[in-house]
Amino acid sequence: MSLTQLKTQSEQQATSPYSPILRPRRLRSSDAMRRLVRETVLTANDFIYPIFVDEGLSEPQEVSSMPGVWRQTEKSMETLLKQVEAAKVPAVMLFGVSDHKDHEGTDSFRKGGLMDRMVKRAKDTCPDLVIMADACFCEYTDHGHCGPLDHVHNDVDNDRTIANIALQAVTAAEAGADVIAPSGMMDGQVAAIRAALDESGCERTAILAYAAKYASGFYGPFRDAAGCSLGQGAGPANRKTYQMDPANGDEAMREVALDIEEGADMVMVKPGLAYLDILYRTKQAFGLPTFAYNVSGEYCMIKAAGRNGWIDEEVAMMEMLMAFKRAGADGIITYAALDAANILQRS
Ligand code: PBG
Repeated sequence: MSLTQLKTQSEQQATSPYSPILRPRRLRSSDAMRRLVRETVLTANDFIYPIFVDEGLSEPQEVSSMPGVWRQTEKSMETLLKQVEAAKVPAVMLFGVSDHKDHEGTDSFRKGGLMDRMVKRAKDTCPDLVIMADACFCEYTDHGHCGPLDHVHNDVDNDRTIANIALQAVTAAEAGADVIAPSGMMDGQVAAIRAALDESGCERTAILAYAAKYASGFYGPFRDAAGCSLGQGAGPANRKTYQMDPANGDEAMREVALDIEEGADMVMVKPGLAYLDILYRTKQAFGLPTFAYNVSGEYCMIKAAGRNGWIDEEVAMMEMLMAFKRAGADGIITYAALDAANILQRS
């Protein structure tokens, strides 16, 4: 198409709110020009780094399906936390990998249990980091579901789970967690946690709700890492009775609205990459601090393709992280946080 034709076309579009620029490439002509007009800037402040703390390990162990991610011992977590702080990443999300599993996941709310010890140690090591505790039971139950089972209905018992999660949240908050992040998708969990925190004098502790969390095929590597794959036998075969159906967008808006009504300070959409529409809608509709969880499957796809020489791992990873922010995320929970922060510092 000639420029004259283009011009005619843009004149026809004169009702558009944008004045026609016939040569958009002018603003892409050099690195400096591109930096000048760049709309979205990624910084280390945008990241939350997930850390797995395995009480059964005597030394750190790499998760085979997540290259670069290591399950930490309680002690080695300290070194990693200091690296996170040095890279200027403001927050971590702690996941316990339990060796004391039972039907209810009681070790997660016992004084002296893994959650209690892990959070205390993290806060003692780096008091200035935002310490977030993933509040769920799948890492602590012997059947791997996110709460105790109701054997009559072969399902997870919603109300027993939220009674327990309130205990877990108070345990984590009293140990020093700044943020409780409930990820079980039980009805009423945010309200139960907020009430319990307030009653225990933890009214300063914030809640980041996994508000729209889908029953996704992208969590596979996490379940290896956290040892929370579903067992053969007890309970339903998957998590579809509590996590959302990937086909639903309007329902996500209702889930987010509920969590905000119940007292969430911040909300999250999970997974991230295949759910940018949900992320965008959430930020537009509610305007709360909104986070995307760049889950294990998204991370390992890029790592695997990069290792095969099929894509440039670094370019693809940074592009993906940028996309979350462009779509409206105030922050990204990502296994690439430490690497990405170091890359940003370099550039
Ligand atoms: C626990 C939890 C899961 C993830 C975060 N918290 C697993 C699940 O719901 O099955 C997944 C994170 C990831 O894949 O990176 N409920």
